[in-house]
This record gives sequence, C-alpha cells and structure tokens, in this order.
Amino acid sequence: MTRIRPVGLALLAIGALFVGVQATAPQRGSDLIGDIDSGEVLFKEYTCHGCHGSTAENGLGTRLNPPRMRQARFIQYLRNPTNPERMPPYQQPEVSDQKLADIYAFLQSLPSASPDVEDIPVLQAILGELRN
Ligand code: HEC
Repeated sequence: MTRIRPVGLALLAIGALFVGVQATAPQRGSDLIGDIDSGEVLFKEYTCHGCHGSTAENGLGTRLNPPRMRQARFIQYLRNPTNPERMPPYQQPEVSDQKLADIYAFLQSLPSASPDVEDIPVLQAILGELRN
C-alpha cells in the first residue's frame, strides 16, 4: 500500500492539472457569438440603459461604449459586480451567458462617441501649427 501511494498522488496531481486546464479552456478560448439586435432589446429590457444611457455613454453608471472588458470578464462582472449596491448583479437563471454576450455584441456595435482626430478642427489646426 505505502509503495503505491506516491504513484497515486502523482496521478491525482496530473488529473487535477488536466481538470484545471479543461475548466479554464472555454473562458480563454472562443467567445460566444452575440446577436446585436437581441442585445439592443435586452439592454432596455434589463434596464441597463436606465443607468448607463441609451448609447451606453452617459447616465450615472460607468460608460460602456466602447466596452473596456473582454467578453468573458464582462459576463463574470455582470454576475458579480465589484459594487453590487451600485451595479445590480444579474444572476437570475433566465439571464444566460448567451444573453449577456448579445448585450456585449450590441455595446461593441455602437459607434464611438469620441470623434476621430481628423474630425476635430481645432486639433487639426494645432497639429498643423506643430507641423509647420
Ligand atoms: C441601477 C443602475 C444600474 C443598472 C440597472 C445597470 N448598471 Fe451597470 N453599473 C452601474 C454603476 C453605478 C456602475 C459602476 C459601479 C462601480 O462604481 O463599481 C456600473 C458598472 C458596470 C460595468 C463595469 C464597467 C467598467 O468598465 O468598470 C459594466 C460592464 C456594466 N455596469 C454593465 C451593465 C449592463 C450590461 C447592465 C444591464 C444588464 C447594467 N450594467 C445595469 C449601474 C447600473
């Protein structure tokens, strides 16, 4: 018995490593494919727009356009926000990962509120001065 134990432990360790890799693989790997139209509907249905604004860039909540987090982190955050007294957790069973991925896709699809450098005349004038 005592002679088998180290081998058993080694196998357990390898097993644990394998399970660990298996468990984290989907998160690091492919993201869920989100449906933008469904995300737009859900953004209102779950009242996200009430706090984050209809274009996700105003309101009392943090600006979400463009999304700062990667999809997996976004889903994780929505389940367990850092400050649940400010940002409500979405843990209800009907709020599936797929639905959160749809919202994420909607946020990604929004045009950025920040204009491009070329579209800011004053900035262009300053840059022109610097170039001369
Ligand atoms: C009751 C108001 C409220 C509602 C409803 C709400 N949020 Fe928030 N949300 C906040 C506030 C406030 C914060 C900032 C929390 C903090 O200070 O830690 C926040 C933070 C976030 C963040 C983190 C942003 C970052 O970059 O740190 C994400 C992502 C987010 N909300 C997404 C959503 C989505 C998606 C929904 C709808 C499913 C939603 N929120 C609904 C108020 C709300």
